Amino acid sequence: MGRAKVSTPKPISQISVERVKRINTGDQELNRVLGGGIVPGSLVLVAGEPGIGKSTLLLQMAVRHSGAKVLYISGEESLEQVSERALRIGNSNENCFVLSVTDPDIIAEEAEKLKPDFIVIDSIQTLHADWLESSPGSISQVKEGTASLMRFAKESGISIFLIGHITKEGSIAGPKVLEHMVDTVTVFEGDQHNLFRLLRTTKNRFGSTNELGIYRMEKDGLEPVDNPSELLLNRKAEMMSGTAAATIVEGIRPLVVEVQALVSSAVYGTPQRSATGFDLRRLNMLLAVLEKRCGFRLGAKDVFLNIAGGIKVNDPALDLAVAAAILSSSEDISLPSDTCFAAEIGLSGEIRPITRVEQRIAEAEKLGFTRIFISKHHALKKNPAVKIKVFGVAKIQEMLTKLFA
Ligand code: TYD
Ligand code: MG
Repeated sequence: MGRAKVSTPKPISQISVERVKRINTGDQELNRVLGGGIVPGSLVLVAGEPGIGKSTLLLQMAVRHSGAKVLYISGEESLEQVSERALRIGNSNENCFVLSVTDPDIIAEEAEKLKPDFIVIDSIQTLHADWLESSPGSISQVKEGTASLMRFAKESGISIFLIGHITKEGSIAGPKVLEHMVDTVTVFEGDQHNLFRLLRTTKNRFGSTNELGIYRMEKDGLEPVDNPSELLLNRKAEMMSGTAAATIVEGIRPLVVEVQALVSSAVYGTPQRSATGFDLRRLNMLLAVLEKRCGFRLGAKDVFLNIAGGIKVNDPALDLAVAAAILSSSEDISLPSDTCFAAEIGLSGEIRPITRVEQRIAEAEKLGFTRIFISKHHALKKNPAVKIKVFGVAKIQEMLTKLFA
């Protein structure tokens, strides 16, 4: 048998690229997280813990969008429940259709007839193909269901949003292979008792990852937050000891967050350390640096750390604010409320440079801070437009002298 088609290598510059036109989801935060709207024919997984707001997010996209035809498949809730929720969050899209089925083949059949711009499937765990023996939510059902939806999306050019629950342990229920199959994985997270919900991309074949969307859960749906720093900061004229402001960068957006620390003598033998929104191992490392390099005796203290607003931060630029908050609480001296921090701390107590420092400085200035501490090792260009006073420090001891002098 001969080969059907012979492919010869071509210069990369001669390959014609058709710019795919992305579809506006009608939600600016969601558009940004997806890399500028949804790519036709792509499969997007929206994962999150039960109750976090996945159904709300996608239903509101479906019903608030004017101009797109959407098919919303509900396997979890009755059509009455979906419709009641749609009324609550403001139903204005005449072209939003709802259907309660669980068989992926029937979903494809109905979608072929309706020809929507996109489909929402709530949820992957309820899919059930008749020809498979196993029950809904089982690995083979989730896998086969996703595979057949993926084929359908690619063939028809219709984009599909798949909702998937995350187990208590934090992994996406179903096989890991699910994440490999879809084009984009976004994770909806936040504290259920908190106002904020964060939508993060962890995989994106059509855009950058680590983009962040921020919402507030209100009684009539999720509201995009344009000025997150203002909400995350809780600044009063009178600062209490133990709080420090940090500029972090999530995706492309700089944010100012408040770090809160409480340091007190350990009541029970072993000192307790706890961190919410921050890595506990990193906290322990910073405590060791403060003890060893600066001589603060924190070994016998309980240390509690919290990032206000219930958000999780991985940005190493938070280190300096964490150290400042801990020392402020431990010494019971409040930090000046006009001061902000953005630097990583190394094991020898050195203050290390971080990414996008100009953006962070600009964000701090925009929010009314008048001083910011960063690493001395940034080569900043002189910019007369920048009014905020920038302190470059090399060692943690140096910052303390400047700060508490
Ligand atoms: P839901 O979208 O059902 O979460 P998921 O699909 O991720 O399981 O929403 C979860 C919570 O959000 C629910 O407890 C009620 C609350 N909620 C509001 O506060 N305001 C609203 O407008 C809606 C629709 C829900
Ligand atoms: Mg739901």
